[in-house]
Amino acid sequence: MQKKIVLLPGDGIGPEIMDAAVDILETIAKKFNHQFIFDYQLIGGAAIDQLNTPLPQQTINSCEVADAVLLGAVGGPKWDNNPSDLRPERGLLGIRKALDLYANLRPVKGFKQLLSASPLKEEIIQGSDLLIVRELTGGLYFGQPSERNADQSAVIDTLAYTRKEMERIIDKGFQSAQIRNKKLTSVDKANVLESSKLWREIVEEKKQMYPDVEVEHVLVDAAAMKLITNPSSFDVIVTENMFGDILSDEASVLTGSLGMLPSASLAENGVGLYEPAHGSAPDIAGLGIANPVAMLLSTAMMLRYSFALEEEATVIEKAIEACIDKGYYTADLAVKSGEKVSTKEMTQAIIACIEE
Ligand code: NAD
Ligand code: IPM
Ligand code: MN
Repeated sequence: MQKKIVLLPGDGIGPEIMDAAVDILETIAKKFNHQFIFDYQLIGGAAIDQLNTPLPQQTINSCEVADAVLLGAVGGPKWDNNPSDLRPERGLLGIRKALDLYANLRPVKGFKQLLSASPLKEEIIQGSDLLIVRELTGGLYFGQPSERNADQSAVIDTLAYTRKEMERIIDKGFQSAQIRNKKLTSVDKANVLESSKLWREIVEEKKQMYPDVEVEHVLVDAAAMKLITNPSSFDVIVTENMFGDILSDEASVLTGSLGMLPSASLAENGVGLYEPAHGSAPDIAGLGIANPVAMLLSTAMMLRYSFALEEEATVIEKAIEACIDKGYYTADLAVKSGEKVSTKEMTQAIIACIEE
C-alpha cells in the first residue's frame, strides 16, 4: 500500500515525538511492505518564525491532498505574547476548521503495568477504559465576537453551535458506543447554558435511533468528579469542545501521564488528522526525554482509521505494551521499578518489539 502522509512537527517536543513516529512508520513499512511518503509542512510557532503566519496556505493545500496528517504539538513561551492571530494555537484551530475535523476521539486506556504511575488509587483506576468524543470545530473556540472593547474594560467570547454541528458529533458518540460497551454519557451544563439545553434535547431525540445504547446525562462539574472517583463507570463520553478539552487532560491522569493520551480528529468525508492530546511541553523541550507513546498511539490510530491497516496498528500497540511490560518508561511516568529511558531509547525499544 502506498500512502502520502503530511507531517506537521510544530513546536517544543513536537519535532522530537514526530521523529519517533517516522521511525516507527518506517519500521512498519518495511515489515509489511508498504510505502509511506512523508511531506513535512510548517504549522504553529515554526511557521510564524519562517513565514509570519501560524498556518501557511501551502500547509492547508498539502493536507487537503494527503491520505492522512500527523501533528506533533504547537505553542510555547516564545509566542505567548503575540497578538491572537499570530499565536501558534491559531494554526491548530485553523487546520481543524479548514479540514472540518469535527470529531476528536480520545481513547483513555491505562496499561495495567502503569497503575502505580497514577496518583489515583489503583483500585479506582483498575478496569477503566473510556473514549472521549469531543466536538472540535465549534463552541467557544470559534464563536464570534471574541474580542475586547476599545478601553479594555470588557471582553466577550461567544459560545455558538448550530443544531447540525451538535447532531453530527452526538451521532458520532452513539456510533462509538455501539461498537464499544454500548453506554453513552452525554456531558453538558444544561442547568445553566442554552447551548447545553439544545444539546440535551438532541441527545434525547437521537437515542430513539440507537436503542441498543444506554444513555445518561451528567453535568460537566459532576462528570469531572466522577472521572477520577469512578472512572470505570464510563464507556463513551460525548461533549462539546471546551468541556472535552478539559476532561481529556483530567482523564489522562488515569493512564499515569498526559504523554500517554492519543487522539484522532476526523471529518465527515476527507482527510483525518492524528495528534497526541498533550501540548508542546516547553518545560522539557530539547531534553530528549518526552514520552513518545501518545504520538505513537496516534500513529496507530491513523493506520487503523485512515488506512484500515488494523494489523499494523495492533502491532504498534502491542509493541508499546510489551516495552512497558519489560519495564521501559520515560521520566513523566512515576514508576517505581524498571528502566528510565529517553525518547529515542523508548522508540528503539518499541521498534525492536515490532521487528521481533
Ligand atoms: P502541555 O501538555 O504541553 O504540558 C503539560 C505538562 O505535561 C508539562 O509538564 C509537560 O512536560 C508534560 N507533558 C506533556 N506531554 C508530555 C510528553 N509527551 N512527555 C512527557 N511530558 C509531557 O501543556 P501546557 O504546558 O499547558 O502547554 C504548553 C504549550 O502547548 C502551550 O503553548 C499550549 O497552548 C500548547 N498546547 C498545544 C497542544 C497541541 O498542539 N495539540 C495541546 C495542548 C497545549
Ligand atoms: C488540545 C489543545 C488545544 C485545544 C489548544 C492548543 C488550542 O489544548 O488539543 O487539547 O484546546 O484544543
Ligand atoms: Mn487540550
